[in-house]
Amino acid sequence: MDFSRETFLNHLAQTTDTPALIAVTYAEGIYIYDTDNKRYTDLISGIGVTNIGHRHPAVLQAIKDQLDKHLHVMVYGEYIQSASNLLAKKVVSLLPPRLNCCYFVNSGTEANEGALKLAKRFTGRHEIISCRKSYHGSTHGSMSVSGNEVKKQAFRPLLPDVSFMDFNSIEDLSLITDKSACVIIETIQGDAGVRIPSRAYMKALRKRCDETGALLILDEIQCGMGRTGTLFAFEQFDIVPDILTVAKAFGGGLPIGAFISDKNIMTCLTHNPMLGHITTFGGNPVCCASALATLNVIENEKILEQVEEKGKLFETLLSHPKIKEVRRIGLMFAIDFESAEIVNRIVLKAKELGVICYWFLSHPYSFRIAPPLTITKKQIEEACETILKAIDNA
Ligand SMILES: Cc1ncc(COP(=O)(O)O)c(C=O)c1O
Repeated sequence: MDFSRETFLNHLAQTTDTPALIAVTYAEGIYIYDTDNKRYTDLISGIGVTNIGHRHPAVLQAIKDQLDKHLHVMVYGEYIQSASNLLAKKVVSLLPPRLNCCYFVNSGTEANEGALKLAKRFTGRHEIISCRKSYHGSTHGSMSVSGNEVKKQAFRPLLPDVSFMDFNSIEDLSLITDKSACVIIETIQGDAGVRIPSRAYMKALRKRCDETGALLILDEIQCGMGRTGTLFAFEQFDIVPDILTVAKAFGGGLPIGAFISDKNIMTCLTHNPMLGHITTFGGNPVCCASALATLNVIENEKILEQVEEKGKLFETLLSHPKIKEVRRIGLMFAIDFESAEIVNRIVLKAKELGVICYWFLSHPYSFRIAPPLTITKKQIEEACETILKAIDNA
């Protein structure tokens, strides 16, 4: 074992000067344990990943079963592998009929890259519409369609012909024209601080895409997989995207993403040129087995039925005069305060007290709460008590 900070700080590339530095020895359910055997309540699910908790036994068993059969045998798209067949069949059974064909990839950003390429190929257009304050990933294409100008500036030139509209502004939908290949939008904006669109907006968005022939890409990488109380957030807005992207919680703790569309659209990546999107590890059998087990757990344990009630309990318990606003859908929260400094102090204090909350990429005045959906009411009460203590002390 090597938990040395020196190794971590000097021989692993750093993303910030202030990493959280919890030295993890073990994780189970909603808890993470460090080298001093300190227990942390994970209220952020490893940023939207462990929706069914850490190391769910059914997921572990599925991984072990697959280990006994085979690991990687071939790049995506060549051999028939039972793990990816079973996962694809399950996924499309849970989606509306037009989302009937899955392309499995390695991450959220790759799912969005694939979706953008597919939209360009299908429509023969190159203009892309996205939203201000959005986050779609950190590779060049996904960064091009992400809204945070400060983070993008140093990496230009990025993709040309990307225009940004305000999220949830029906007026701005006029930016979508018959020159647009697609609109890419988070159904619920996550890193903008949990922004929930109106049903009227989502309906108007769908209609505008239909009128102009632009494909609608819904990014549910953060808000999907039960986080909002339905398996996919778009179900709550009575619309269906042309392309859906998922990742994070999709794999139950292993890395896998997907872009999902109609077979007729998806075939564009097969011809002229063939191999329109290729990936070595996409659809890795162990990750597929883990993803399938995750979907089965959500279904078998009736997890979705409890999300709203648990969300409401958090909301009721998190009552404090310093809190300016709470935005919530299901178990996805942004808790707003007067300043970024206060948020910073609360997040650090909560961590000291053994509860992990976290910042947003593009909204410094809030912290996020997005716990495993399996959290119990008692655990919610304990966690909220600690958070209120952290707010008092910050
Ligand atoms: C909405 C959304 N899209 C895309 C991504 C990128 O996913 P990944 O980090 O797996 O590339 C994220 C990651 O936070 C996200 O929240």
